[in-house]
Amino acid sequence: MAKKLYLKTYGCQMNVYDSARMSDVLATCGYINTTNPKEADLIVLNTCHIREKASEKMYSELGRLNKIKIARRENGKQMLLAIGGCVGQAEGKEILRRAPYVDLVMGPQNYHRLPSLIHEAQSHSLVDIEFPKKSKFDYLPEETIKTNGENNISVFLTIQEGCDRFCTFCVVPYTRGSEYSRPVVDIDSEARRLVDKGAREITLLGQNVNSYHGQSNVNGGKEFTLADLIYQLADIEGLDRIRYTTSHPRDLTADLIGAHRNISILMPFLHLPVQTGSDRILKAMNRRHTVGYYQRQIQSLRKARPDIAISSDFIVGYPGETDTDFEQTLKLVKNIGFAQSFSFKYSRRPGTPAAEAKESVPEAVKDIRLKVLQKALNKYQTKYNSSTVGLTLPVMFERSSRRNINQLVGKTPYAQWINANLPNTYLGQTVDITVTKANNSRLEGESTEYRNLTRSNIMSTTSR
Ligand code: 5AD
Ligand code: SF4
Repeated sequence: MAKKLYLKTYGCQMNVYDSARMSDVLATCGYINTTNPKEADLIVLNTCHIREKASEKMYSELGRLNKIKIARRENGKQMLLAIGGCVGQAEGKEILRRAPYVDLVMGPQNYHRLPSLIHEAQSHSLVDIEFPKKSKFDYLPEETIKTNGENNISVFLTIQEGCDRFCTFCVVPYTRGSEYSRPVVDIDSEARRLVDKGAREITLLGQNVNSYHGQSNVNGGKEFTLADLIYQLADIEGLDRIRYTTSHPRDLTADLIGAHRNISILMPFLHLPVQTGSDRILKAMNRRHTVGYYQRQIQSLRKARPDIAISSDFIVGYPGETDTDFEQTLKLVKNIGFAQSFSFKYSRRPGTPAAEAKESVPEAVKDIRLKVLQKALNKYQTKYNSSTVGLTLPVMFERSSRRNINQLVGKTPYAQWINANLPNTYLGQTVDITVTKANNSRLEGESTEYRNLTRSNIMSTTSR
């Protein structure tokens, strides 16, 4: 009988991708996925360490799962409990100390070793958080599981992992390690397989995706930039949309900006985190750019692709942030008019340089700043969404609506979620939709005249 795997994913899109790859590895040793932890022979929590709250979620879930483990044991059934992801990497043995009933702790670079780790964990608890010399991508089997956890139409593809930027607040350089770019040929063949299986939109993932520098087969192994890679992938027959995330403003190079001008299937949306609107705090964060630099990057992007929508991440209450610093963040928000955003209270992460700071912003002040910021961001997001009412946009439909069986849910080129009345046969199709309604998070629209957009080619690859 097949063994059952319950895999729960926390955190970012890369964890979603990793979970799919873990399922692939475990399928090779007979595991099939279940959504019911009570029937699981193996439970894997793919965890997130980015903020304290995210880590704490893991511990509260562990307590609940241990009760299931005990109940199963009483019925003579085994259940292995494994922790993967960034909490695993960051806390290692500490997890076994706090939760001794955990059987296996591993880091994000060790998933290819899962079959032998699981085997060993049956006799004793173990921790594997060594960064391997060779990339896990050299060992992982070909993907078979849906890479965005939901559908085959809009999928994720990890092209780069780790980060060398060392922003002072961030755990990523420690949990994911230094930057690694997958070779072009591997990405190209994975993308082609995904398209063969029905993918129409691929989001290229990396912690610092625009610092991608992967080896190609061109000119004796020339390194490709992210722009070079996107030009190549844009040629794949059947692929209608390309996106990428997450980017650092300093790695937004002229060739990538040019790609936004030249490649029509590269969607006019960019998630470009700025974190704060204060130069003083940007410096303390080791972001290595100023507010002015960020604004000039946006100007260049808008010159290349006038309709591009910009989204960002913000942190409020970084150590030493004053009211004046915070006001500058609000000023930047007003200046740029972000189409979407994520905002967080600063969370002290042990082991990062910012954790050593002597000063700190009181929790109550952080709360107020977050509220004020989110109100402003919401206002601009609603304004942006409202500005698309009346427009007819190509929408790619990727799933059925959970609330209304007559509706499908898709995305506009600007990454806005939109619902429209259409039968399921339109899943995976790009259809012209006139936007009829908008609020801060969603749009509604009507299909005017169905048009199955054929893949539009690169407008010009020569003007690079
Ligand atoms: N505290 C709060 N937010 C953080 N982020 C990263 N580290 C922290 C932290 N210690 C946010 C940043 C980043 C996003 C993924 O998470 O805004 O861009
Ligand atoms: Fe973290 Fe992003 Fe900074 Fe890298 S660039 S250290 S992933 S916030």
